Amino acid sequence: MKRNAFFLMIMALATMGLLAFVATPQQGQKAGEPWDIPEEYKNMDNPYADDASLDRLGRGNYARHCRSCHGRNGEGDGPMAAQLNTFPGDFTDSEWQKKYNDGEIYYMSIIGRDEMPNFESTIPDKEERWAIVNHIRSLEK
Ligand code: HEC
Repeated sequence: MKRNAFFLMIMALATMGLLAFVATPQQGQKAGEPWDIPEEYKNMDNPYADDASLDRLGRGNYARHCRSCHGRNGEGDGPMAAQLNTFPGDFTDSEWQKKYNDGEIYYMSIIGRDEMPNFESTIPDKEERWAIVNHIRSLEK
């Protein structure tokens, strides 16, 4: 009996620890430094802006390549986020959305830096790249 109670207590503590961990993925993460984005990308036009026919392509590619860190809704809370030293950003934040144009989002998404992977060879298709940018736009709340 005593042993059982002890076991239950340990399980309860472990669950609480796990919940705290899952609920606050940003804990211990530093915010990203400002990005240094080349003019070439800043001035880049999105050839697929407002093209709803790419919605599925964007959603699928985001789920495959980005969700693990950035989270389903883009809040920076994917299953791998807790292991990152840098917070991956919150795409649902309208301030974040206003801060960048499509070319800048393209640069950060495809070229990356440090813990943000480079996707130039993994996602060679221009249409798929812009579809992902459009998907990120759709995540604003
Ligand atoms: C291994 C985890 C990981 C994956 C997978 C990943 N990212 Fe990131 N991403 C990060 C991290 C970490 C940062 C912050 C990097 C920094 O600021 O130095 C970041 C930053 C970004 C930013 C800039 C956010 C900001 O506010 O600075 C964008 C946009 C972005 N990622 C898009 C994508 C897209 C699109 C994909 C999929 C094609 C993707 N990421 C896949 C980890 C990831």
